[in-house]
Amino acid sequence: MKSMSLLLTVAGMLVAGAALAQSADELLKSKGCLGCHAMDVKKVGPAYKDVAAKYKGDKKAEGKLVAALKEGKGHPIKAAASEAELKKMVKRVLSAK
Ligand code: HEC
Repeated sequence: MKSMSLLLTVAGMLVAGAALAQSADELLKSKGCLGCHAMDVKKVGPAYKDVAAKYKGDKKAEGKLVAALKEGKGHPIKAAASEAELKKMVKRVLSAK
């Protein structure tokens, strides 16, 4: 029975962790990015799949875009997100198809 309760504790921690760490898609939504962007159509900003195509093969793209969003240079708004969150979102954007 001891191992059973340990298993439940671990499962509970996993659920709590998932709630804290939002997925990249959830972040894009909760940080307001999807107000101006969509994955596959142009809105106020370019479609993320077009951004991915533009930076295809550019190994520095992730760092450049995170910096642009963090400082609001080369992007209309300064993103209210941590660097880790930005990285996660930019990775997702760059993998859009
Ligand atoms: C107020 C509208 C708006 C919001 C909100 C917004 N964007 Fe943008 N975004 C734009 C526009 C407009 C451009 C095109 C800028 C340009 O080409 O000069 C753009 C461009 C981009 C690009 C491509 C930049 C490049 O160099 O090609 C990325 C990546 C991006 N946005 C990510 C994000 C992320 C991530 C968020 C959320 C944190 C976000 N955007 C929120 C309007 C917005």
